[in-house]
Amino acid sequence: MSRTGLLDEKNMESNERTPLIATVLVAPPRRRYQHNVVRRFCTLCLFSALVIVTTIFLLQVALAPDGYSHRPNPVPDHTSAITFQELQEILLGTPEAANAREWSRYYTSGPHLAGKNYSQAEWTQNKFQEFGIKSHIVAYDTYINYPLGHRLALYEKADSEVVDGTSDLDAWKVKFEASLEEDVLEEDQTSGLVDRVPTFHGYSATGNVTAPYVYVNYGTYQDYEDLIKANISLEGKIAVAKYGGIFRGLKVKRAQDLGMVGAILFTDPGDDGDSTEENGVAVYPDGPARNPTSVQRGSTQFLSFAPGDPTTPGYPSKPGVPRQPVDNAIPSIPSIPISYVDAIPILTALNGHGPSAKDFNEYWQNNLGLEYKGVNYNIGPSPDNLVLNLVNEQEYVTTPLWDVIGVINGTLFDEVIVIGNHRDAWIAGGAGDPNSGSAALIEVARSFGEAVSRGWKPLRTIVFASWDGEEYGLIGSTEWVEEYLPWLTHANVAYVNVDVGTTGPVFSASASPLLNKLLYEVVSLVPSPNQTIPGQTVGDVWNGRIGTMGSGSDFTAFQDFAGIPSIDMGFGPDPGIPGKTGSAAVYQYHSNYDSFHWMDTFGDPGFHYHATIAKIWALFTAKLAEAPVIPLNATDYATAIEGYISKLEGKLDAAISGIPSDGEELEIRARPTPTGAKGDINELKVSFHQLYKAASEFKSAAIAHDALAAQLAEEVKDDIPWWKWLSKLRLYYRIRKVNDKYKFLERKFLYKKGLDGRSWFKHVIFAPGLWTGYAGAVFPGLDEAISDKDYGNAQRWVEIIETAIYKAAKSLK
Ligand SMILES: *[C@@H]1O[C@H](CO)[C@@H](O)[C@H](O)[C@H]1NC(C)=O
Ligand SMILES: *[C@@H]1O[C@H](CO)[C@@H](O)[C@H](O)[C@H]1NC(C)=O
Ligand SMILES: *[C@@H]1O[C@H](CO)[C@@H](O)[C@H](O)[C@H]1NC(C)=O
Ligand SMILES: *[C@@H]1O[C@H](CO)[C@@H](O)[C@H](O)[C@H]1NC(C)=O
Ligand SMILES: *[C@@H]1O[C@H](CO)[C@@H](O)[C@H](O)[C@H]1NC(C)=O
Ligand SMILES: *[C@@H]1O[C@H](CO)[C@@H](O)[C@H](O)[C@H]1NC(C)=O
Ligand SMILES: [Zn+2]
Repeated sequence: MSRTGLLDEKNMESNERTPLIATVLVAPPRRRYQHNVVRRFCTLCLFSALVIVTTIFLLQVALAPDGYSHRPNPVPDHTSAITFQELQEILLGTPEAANAREWSRYYTSGPHLAGKNYSQAEWTQNKFQEFGIKSHIVAYDTYINYPLGHRLALYEKADSEVVDGTSDLDAWKVKFEASLEEDVLEEDQTSGLVDRVPTFHGYSATGNVTAPYVYVNYGTYQDYEDLIKANISLEGKIAVAKYGGIFRGLKVKRAQDLGMVGAILFTDPGDDGDSTEENGVAVYPDGPARNPTSVQRGSTQFLSFAPGDPTTPGYPSKPGVPRQPVDNAIPSIPSIPISYVDAIPILTALNGHGPSAKDFNEYWQNNLGLEYKGVNYNIGPSPDNLVLNLVNEQEYVTTPLWDVIGVINGTLFDEVIVIGNHRDAWIAGGAGDPNSGSAALIEVARSFGEAVSRGWKPLRTIVFASWDGEEYGLIGSTEWVEEYLPWLTHANVAYVNVDVGTTGPVFSASASPLLNKLLYEVVSLVPSPNQTIPGQTVGDVWNGRIGTMGSGSDFTAFQDFAGIPSIDMGFGPDPGIPGKTGSAAVYQYHSNYDSFHWMDTFGDPGFHYHATIAKIWALFTAKLAEAPVIPLNATDYATAIEGYISKLEGKLDAAISGIPSDGEELEIRARPTPTGAKGDINELKVSFHQLYKAASEFKSAAIAHDALAAQLAEEVKDDIPWWKWLSKLRLYYRIRKVNDKYKFLERKFLYKKGLDGRSWFKHVIFAPGLWTGYAGAVFPGLDEAISDKDYGNAQRWVEIIETAIYKAAKSLK
């Protein structure tokens, strides 16, 4: 059953889905969509005016004396026992560092790989229920791998012996056997659990290969190209790559495409800044530097093509659905991650073989953090008498994953705020990624529960999601969005994601520009745990930069597939004090040392940043749920779009002049060198006027719409006497109309056919970089076409984008 045309509203009616959310939690699936909501409401108003007058009368009379209705009300039948000010006090007053510490300890005390820990799903559900939030568990049958075994050994044969291939290893001597284990630390209890998770890659291929090997730097597209230019033979070899720069799966993909037979990914401490063993900084657990045995696990799915279950692209992986082949979505060659301790002997054995990294361009010279250990960073290949045996055994199964979904019904069912964090981790720990966010989610739920117990009822419905399977490829969230797409398209106002809630004190966020204004407002209301001047808020100590939406967490399906304005935020690692070596704690991402003990000692001692992200998250959600006029800002989106156009124009100018623009380097290193130009670059340049024109039209419409919204937000503050019920209804009607326009604005930027070669991605403004995997690209279709020097296709994208912007502008009028 193909889901092509899923975004076509006409097709929604034929879309069979389990009406789980619909029946259990919210309004039933609608057969007619947004346009009718207002109309239906209006009709309802006319025909039941009498009923409504009575209702309003009763509300005013019954509630006003108790002071219940001192919160002005845009909805005839919405009342709440508490004011927004009171709600805000509850949300900022409830989250406790000590609680967050306890929830963190719970989540990080046992393994919780995707699909492996049902009890954590139940625990989360029970917590929601305990706080008065009705919730349930949604399962998806997902194609996924679990580690069975692995081995990495360096074999040597004396030079004098005849080399007769590598099939019979008996004639060879083991020169080094990699431990593939992280040290068990006495201080760090989770590092020694008997059922701890082995080091492995998600979606890696099973295999047993023995071959010479080559050091490939970061394994970017251009790193491999440099090797080809230097006549290094790659076919049949094993790639040894540093982590960093681009998404790990893309390093393996390129190795595979070049006929290499395996890949080994290691962490180079050169990328850790100045908190390193080399600089004399004590290593974890004694100090803030990386433990030399720490290993970065992670997924090797080809994420920038499509996230989610690779066997069900675009539709939910429910039992019995058809499954697609995975060949183009996950690697076919084996790969494993290793620590720098395990990498040293393998790299040292290459000393003197082939050219050195120093013979290559500047991109090979950065952060060579193991020279002090005797590594010369020779490229190889290793000579014929020196080979690696790489064994990777994975069990592939189709098994349930469990999302936990909690709901607080609002008065409005067709305006819904979704907030989420993933629960699954690569390790028993995961105190930073993701369980700092999970601990915060529990505190957020507890805070809203507290408000509910005080009689609060949200205006808009709030959905709390604890996702499973994020680490393998954003699976739990992607499958859920794919399942409830028609409902989300109809009702979802915004998605608020917190993945890594904290690994340090530095606030950061990426968002759809619609949400910028709200974020600035909220961080200026939440006290910072680090106040050099008393009273400083998070906003005061933040650099104020909001990134664009790329990928790498659960907002991807909401933002890029469903066109729902999304935000991702959290506190990141300490950059350290300039000039003071070792002042920053290195976050040992996806390793056993992303543990409770590390968090308690180095990441967030006292758990104050956990409590702070919970406050920001709760207040952000509350404002979205409660403000009578939805607090989105279209003008900021229009301004951002103008900026994106000029950014791409800069890129085009760079292409015309041949001088790369700033910040383009990583992307250029990550992608193929384009072949000859196609189409007319000057004509394309001229067509940018169309984009600016569309953007300016959108901006005028946005300014007018925001001004009307601001006016209505003022009007609704005035308490309209009950006997002016007609004015009240009229105001309600006008607010609903403005809110609908805000709600559907982001959807206008979806393009049904999707991006070139990766049609799952529907958003014309935001997508993950095709060749980097994480970083956000703006106008991805146009950007890629310019990079490819396919100016004809770029022209096509100018038209697609222009159409979308005009559609957005028109929708606001
Ligand atoms: C929310 O409202 C729907 C529809 O009225 C109802 O079926 C559902 O049980 C309610 N859910 C909660 C959590 O109260
Ligand atoms: C699930 O998680 C809990 C809490 O972290 C842990 O105690 C338990 O051992 C885990 N269960 C499994 C089957 O790994
Ligand atoms: C891997 O293959 C080699 C040679 O083909 C063989 O000797 C070895 O036993 C295999 N290892 C495993 C774990 O299957
Ligand atoms: C490239 O390497 C091959 C052997 O791998 C060798 O035969 C050939 O001469 C080399 N070519 C150049 C240009 O160095
Ligand atoms: C606290 O904030 C100040 C600036 O306001 C900054 O210089 C300092 O590094 C911060 N310290 C921590 C631990 O975040
Ligand atoms: C929207 O943003 C613009 C520009 O930042 C600002 O001038 C305007 O007051 C904002 N309007 C609302 C309703 O937030
Ligand atoms: Zn995460």
